Amino acid sequence: MRTKVVIVGAGPAGLMLGRLLDLAGIENLILERKSADYVLGRIRAGVLEQGAVDLMDRAQVSERLHEEGLIHDGTVLSFDGDSHRIDFAQLVGRRVTVYGQTEVTRDLMDARQGQTIYEAEDVQLHDFDGKPYVTWRKDGVSHRVDCDYIAGCDGYHGASRASVPQDAIKTFERIYPFGWLGILVDKPPVAHELIYAHHERGFALCSQRSPTRSRYYVQVANSEKVEDWSDDRFWDELRRRLDPATAEAMQTGESLEKSIAPLRSFVAEPLRFGRLFLAGDAAHIVPPTGAKGLNLAMSDVAMLADALIEFYGETSTAGLDFYSAKALSRIWKAERFSWWMTSLLHVFPDSGDFGRRIQRAEFDYLTGSVAAQQSLAENYTGLPQ
Ligand code: FAD
Ligand code: DHB
Repeated sequence: MRTKVVIVGAGPAGLMLGRLLDLAGIENLILERKSADYVLGRIRAGVLEQGAVDLMDRAQVSERLHEEGLIHDGTVLSFDGDSHRIDFAQLVGRRVTVYGQTEVTRDLMDARQGQTIYEAEDVQLHDFDGKPYVTWRKDGVSHRVDCDYIAGCDGYHGASRASVPQDAIKTFERIYPFGWLGILVDKPPVAHELIYAHHERGFALCSQRSPTRSRYYVQVANSEKVEDWSDDRFWDELRRRLDPATAEAMQTGESLEKSIAPLRSFVAEPLRFGRLFLAGDAAHIVPPTGAKGLNLAMSDVAMLADALIEFYGETSTAGLDFYSAKALSRIWKAERFSWWMTSLLHVFPDSGDFGRRIQRAEFDYLTGSVAAQQSLAENYTGLPQ
């Protein structure tokens, strides 16, 4: 079997790349380890930058997004109960759209024209410095596909980055001593916009998926187990971290999903190894605080798709040669912003009283400075490609 581009992973990065290549008439094959239902069952990100919305438009998969997505002009930051609204629209003339990663994935899956092989086991990448090919097993049968290029879109734990020789890659990492316990519930959101709250007991986030479905998170220690968190315990903890009026107004209910995600900052360099390119979570992880993970995955594959389209259209490798440096420049800015927002809003077990005073001073500076708010708004709504 032969194709032009093999894409490893059918998360949002892999599916979007496949879609952009399909639209450009570039044959591609997606290999995904899990089933389609499993991929759709993962509850992850919820906020799209304008750049990601524009990419959904370009991919001609944005009809439902424009019908159902909730446009937010701002967000609320709260520190020990003092709340301040950051008005993105007024500060930088941009907005974000609340539309779940599950829906993005579903829209891309529905539109898929090229072949996707789900439940592909033991995917292995070969000879990407020469004549690349990929092997896998399905239903006990071994398969092989030869290709021009491989796109590693298989997330943090995928096979692509792991197949690069250690001495060819450098990784940068920060692990935070906490995670986010998240709950999904069929109740209306407590507020029109998201609320990011710092409290001495830990960070909390009130987010949403639709006018009738909410997503809430609380910071928990890495040692916490989801089984130890009944719904009641979660709601009690969340209420304690919110200002009294918000806590009072919140509608609680039975959780549809509950999980703990660890927080990590991670970047791999470079993103190109011969004919293999890394994109999305395979290349980098951000802590979720700045809502950047999905958006970064989208901007990576937009750049990679343009580079591949340029190669097949004009036989120029300029875009492919520049992909790693161009994507990394944007990635590091998003890493910085996500780290900064995480540092401002979470409780760090070892930071002491000095650290807490600095966080408070940072919050007071932010709420008193239009320049600081503009910086937050510019980053949160998405830096240009
Ligand atoms: P993924 O979505 O991880 O997709 C990779 C795909 O590759 C998966 O379908 C996987 O099954 C497949 N795969 C893996 N290994 C192989 C293999 N060997 N062979 C074939 N296929 C393979 N971001 C936010 O902004 N807000 C959030 O609240 C948020 N919550 C998150 C919670 C969790 C638990 C995680 C893991 C991430 C979260 N993120 C969040 C980050 C965001 O969801 C990711 O940045 C986004 O999913 C990246 O998309 P991707 O396509 O690069 O990777
Ligand atoms: C959501 C997740 C985030 O990380 C964030 O910053 C905002 C919203 C969410 O899952 O809704």
